[in-house]
Amino acid sequence: MKLHEFNARDYISDMWIYLAALLGLYFLRRWYRERQTMEKLTEKYVFITGCDCGFGHQLARQLDARGLQVLAACLTYKGAEELAKISSERLKTTVLDVTSTESVKAAMKWVEGCVGNKGLWGLVNNAGIAHPSGPIEWLTKDDFAKLINVNLLGTIDVTLHMLPLMRKARGRVVNMSSINGRLAGSGSYSITKFGVEAFSDSLRRELSPFGIKVSIIEPSAFTTSILNNVEVNFRKTWDRAPSDIKEVYGQQYLESCCTLINQVYVKKANTNLYLVTDCMEHALTSQYPRTRYSAGWDAKLFHIPLSYMPTFAADYVITCFSPKPAQAV
Ligand SMILES: NC(=O)c1ccc[n+]([C@@H]2O[C@H](COP(=O)([O-])OP(=O)(O)OC[C@H]3O[C@@H](n4cnc5c(N)ncnc54)[C@H](OP(=O)(O)O)[C@@H]3O)[C@@H](O)[C@H]2O)c1
Repeated sequence: MKLHEFNARDYISDMWIYLAALLGLYFLRRWYRERQTMEKLTEKYVFITGCDCGFGHQLARQLDARGLQVLAACLTYKGAEELAKISSERLKTTVLDVTSTESVKAAMKWVEGCVGNKGLWGLVNNAGIAHPSGPIEWLTKDDFAKLINVNLLGTIDVTLHMLPLMRKARGRVVNMSSINGRLAGSGSYSITKFGVEAFSDSLRRELSPFGIKVSIIEPSAFTTSILNNVEVNFRKTWDRAPSDIKEVYGQQYLESCCTLINQVYVKKANTNLYLVTDCMEHALTSQYPRTRYSAGWDAKLFHIPLSYMPTFAADYVITCFSPKPAQAV
């Protein structure tokens, strides 16, 4: 009997060793594959939206320094001029508002002229906004539409226009989502990023027969200008909320939300934008890009694991961190 127990213990410890060896081999293979980069990078054209500042601006400069042919779209002429001034002569800029199909069409014609018969290798749908956001009851349909127009419909419209140019190069689409696209936070913003995730998943499956790969970037909070004035904008949303809704939530709720925004999102936001732009660069230059890139330790260790948990567990954790409205029962 004792001998039998001893063998069972041996068997279990052997199983753990095999499992650890298998895991080790998996990560070794993944590490090796992910180090393989594409050839002739200096001949590849990459079009990026939202390059005035933030991730788009940094990615444009990073790829330019690496020798790729960067086609950077900025929302403003000033943004385009400033980026052109600090970049190599290779980098070209244009002005694009992703909410205007006319503007998207014009950008597509411009890209077509730049890439010639080489085709477009990379499309980075980066442009995005985060305001207006706040509790759903404080918002209007137009608030939702404003965010959806830029973050989701903008991404869709640019992709639809650029895809014919990409088929020849059999390149990469890189879509900027967020950890809010995996775990809903602010209602209006999360809706757009969940949309980006769904769009990207469908696109990846549909484009794989054509050799085009689609990657999704899911950063946590980073200190770009999207985080400027978050509290001011949050208070603006409160200010124009109907008075009966204000009564339901109460001034104390607003103040607690503002403290949370400042202490958790703004002050703790990551300052190293390279954690995100390196993922974008990898998605564009690696032979084996990942489907999803999470950037930031809080994304990897908190948000993404929580997104795999049962809904009641995620709800419980999020509710624990959330302030209580005045008339909460
Ligand atoms: N920073 C974060 O914590 C974080 C986390 C997760 C995901 N993201 C996502 O990352 C992307 C880039 O944001 P960011 O953090 O780098 O913020 P950012 O610094 O504000 O950059 C956003 C860029 O998009 C441009 N833009 C805004 N509306 C546009 C429009 N209608 N058409 C074309 N361009 C437009 C902005 O131009 P102007 O500056 O001229 O307005 C700016 O260049 C967004 O999709 C955002 O949702 C950010």
